[in-house]
Amino acid sequence: MLTIALCKGKLIEPTLKLFAKAGYGAAQPAANSRRLLFPCPEIGMTFLIVRPTDVPTYVEHGAADVGVVGKDVLLEQDCDVYEPLDLGFGACRIAVAAFRGQVPRDRLSSKIRVATKYPKITERYFNQRGVPVEIIKLYGSIELAPIVGLADRIVDLVETGNTLKAHGLIEVECIARSTARLIVNRASLKLKHQAVAELLSKLRHACAAPGPARKDGSVKPARSAGGKPKRMRT
Ligand code: PRP
Repeated sequence: MLTIALCKGKLIEPTLKLFAKAGYGAAQPAANSRRLLFPCPEIGMTFLIVRPTDVPTYVEHGAADVGVVGKDVLLEQDCDVYEPLDLGFGACRIAVAAFRGQVPRDRLSSKIRVATKYPKITERYFNQRGVPVEIIKLYGSIELAPIVGLADRIVDLVETGNTLKAHGLIEVECIARSTARLIVNRASLKLKHQAVAELLSKLRHACAAPGPARKDGSVKPARSAGGKPKRMRT
């Protein structure tokens, strides 16, 4: 039996689609349910639904054998887990953004104030460039910070860029790119090797295979040579 930590939010639907495509579609958590624990003995799995930032904790401590989480969270947390597979969906970037035509600062401090939910990534990034920063930790709605004078810049996820645009902000630097990753507990990799290896192989195959999942959850064979390869839509 494998315990799998999935994160609430934007990644859950594409994750469940990918698991269905990999053949684990028969019994799965409903994306919109309030339940947090889904035992699925038919497929030898128990799904846990947790906050994205908690997925690495569950996996690192062995409460879950496997997890699905964004690379942004892994870069922020530096956790000790095995990261064998880039699942490809959930593509976005961690970027520095500022007001279009940067408002002049009237404070005496030489430090740039940066609001973010990624304090470690932000600190590392500005330290490497020798730029003194004061980091203001927020938990969401980061784009508000420059508007109300809480920060000079923000470091946040940018996917379509619509949220920045809606608040008169522009992306000034890209720090890193992120996609959803499969992570595995180091002990589970040894103690449940067969089950983990089988899951990895099926997910890898499903990631590479074009087209949607079939109703029975099996993977549609890839097109023969000459066909235009499709990007997997999530
Ligand atoms: C994320 C991120 C941005 C937005 C970017 O927020 O923090 O605000 O998505 O997406 P876009 O470039 O497609 O507009 P999320 O929806 O996770 O909520 P949050 O602001 O509460 O963190």
